[in-house]
Amino acid sequence: MAEAVYPVPAEWAANALVDEARYHELYRRSVDEPDAFWGEMAQRISWMRPFTQVKQTSFHAADFRIRWFADGTLNLSANCLDRHLAERGDSVAILWEPDSPADPERRITYRELHEQVCRFANLLKARGVKRGDRVTLYLPMVPEAAVAMLACARIGAIHSIVFAGFSPEALAGRIEDCGSRIVVTSDEGLRGGKKVPLKANVDEALGHCAGVDTVIVLKRTGAAVAMQPGRDVDWHEGVAAQSADYPPEEMDAEDPLFILYTSGSTGKPKGVLHTTGGYAVWASLTHELVFDYRPGQIYWCAADIGWVTGHSYVVYGPLMNGGTTVMFEGVPNFPDPSRFWQVVDKFQVEIFYGAPTALRALMREGDEWVKKTSRQSLRLLGSVGEPINPEAWEWYHKVIGESRCPIVDTWWQTETGGVMITPLPGATALKPGSATRPMLGVKPALVDNDGTPIEGAGEGCLVITDSWPGQMRTVWGDHERFFQTYFTTFAGQYFTGDGCRRDADGYYWITGRIDDVINVSGHRMGTAEIESALVAHAKVAEAAVVGMPHEIKGQGIYAYVTTNAGIEPDEALRKELVQWVRHEIGPIATPDVIQFAPGLPKTRSGKIMRRILRKIAENDVSNLGDTSTLADPSVVDNLLANRPRLP
Ligand code: WTA
Repeated sequence: MAEAVYPVPAEWAANALVDEARYHELYRRSVDEPDAFWGEMAQRISWMRPFTQVKQTSFHAADFRIRWFADGTLNLSANCLDRHLAERGDSVAILWEPDSPADPERRITYRELHEQVCRFANLLKARGVKRGDRVTLYLPMVPEAAVAMLACARIGAIHSIVFAGFSPEALAGRIEDCGSRIVVTSDEGLRGGKKVPLKANVDEALGHCAGVDTVIVLKRTGAAVAMQPGRDVDWHEGVAAQSADYPPEEMDAEDPLFILYTSGSTGKPKGVLHTTGGYAVWASLTHELVFDYRPGQIYWCAADIGWVTGHSYVVYGPLMNGGTTVMFEGVPNFPDPSRFWQVVDKFQVEIFYGAPTALRALMREGDEWVKKTSRQSLRLLGSVGEPINPEAWEWYHKVIGESRCPIVDTWWQTETGGVMITPLPGATALKPGSATRPMLGVKPALVDNDGTPIEGAGEGCLVITDSWPGQMRTVWGDHERFFQTYFTTFAGQYFTGDGCRRDADGYYWITGRIDDVINVSGHRMGTAEIESALVAHAKVAEAAVVGMPHEIKGQGIYAYVTTNAGIEPDEALRKELVQWVRHEIGPIATPDVIQFAPGLPKTRSGKIMRRILRKIAENDVSNLGDTSTLADPSVVDNLLANRPRLP
């Protein structure tokens, strides 16, 4: 079958910020003269002290460094708020849709947001938060989450957002790793009509880690929660007495802005650190060009602020660009599978940016849920977080966008700060399933397992050969781990962990992770993390976790578990282990399959042969490859004979 190609609609080519010719011209400049190019692009930001240096970067061990605009100073909250006040102080910055459609929405103008941010900044200061201090945010999708982020940026504190679906254990680990003294949370969260006991989770987490002296508690549901005198502060009471003025701190371009924990191949989640100047340029430029964004347009990114997409494309990107950003507290299928499109109609959303997993789930519910909404306001659609299969792409294009809206399939990572490979809607002909071409300034390359470059069409490991402004700067507290993780697999290049194919047109097709990271519903999970949660259970001797194909979630979690001697695995234990993992990490890590096994396939040197475990989980057992190097080949027969029925 010939590959489908969707040309740029004429209207888009004529009106977009960047058309095909301009893309090529800009791209060439961005890689040939990065200093001149980025020096110009960075003028989109309000600097307090202009920079004189632009790009100072090297991925090589001898002079490893990543610095952008290093001698400039700025404040990101001022770029999101103060600079817009004169021109559009009364336009809506945040358009908030609550979990239940029966509850009222909130419209917060730039002026109001500025005031709330200043008050909250003063409250943080009153609680002793200083420049460089870490502030952990564990909040639902409410405007106050953005207020707290921007207040941290305003005073120069570093926020670390922990997704509100993570367990108290996971929260404690993240508080401890970055040494936060302060946690901001709410009484409860509300998602899909269900309450999440956020404050109680914080209390439990603080039982496992020391050093937190302040917990600020926002009222969301009004539930009665225990407040510890001296430590716990009610948000509204706390800000009431504060001044509505807080002059933004002057930050260096390379001062840290935020930490966001993300999973890798090994060990505990890493605290990905982003700094101020480069991130500001990258998040705002990519938001403007990828979405062809002009102030006044209603833009909705459906990601949670607990993930990087929420950081860059719910809060920082759109607000730096003076936009109106929709913030949605709920879930796609509550109260029914029309919800997304009802919100689109209600707010007349023009640009919608969502995840393939949600689209696949909605697609399964049938077209009638979509068709009873208008969606006439939509002009552009986006996809992020995992590969979008061509079938879901076509449905998104045809049914949601009525063949009218281009789709920008954006590939990027927590580490990259913003979009790296993507179509630009006025420039790029689309191919369903391809993230297409590099963003300005991005130099992708494919290499084989030995690091030999692959030219032209081919498939290999995706690396980025040079720095871009939004790149992460370090792993919090472990600079060596940063270098080791990303720059040593292929010396002198940033290794993404993804596999990728490049076609004859130079289009990139991300094939998914090639390390021990799995992508479940667009959420990154380290198999090592789930394994260590399982082996922490008293009855478990050993565990190995791999991904398995899953129709809705993209990948599901398949766990092989060996119990301790004398423990008879049964259905009750299976249920107990599922609950255990949910408790240790959170519901997003719920194993889909647990297979009990008396032994795992290991080489004579004791290394688990994951290749075999993956094949069994993928139900691709006709050719398991060479098993002769296994210490005990009969282990594989046992695994094959006792495969559980897949869900
Ligand atoms: C995957 C999310 C294919 C990829 C922004 C990457 C994608 C990981 C796409 C990062 C896409 C993200 N097509 N795969 N458009 N977008 N991914 O850090 O495997 O949560 O490495 O950042 O998601 O996930 P993260």
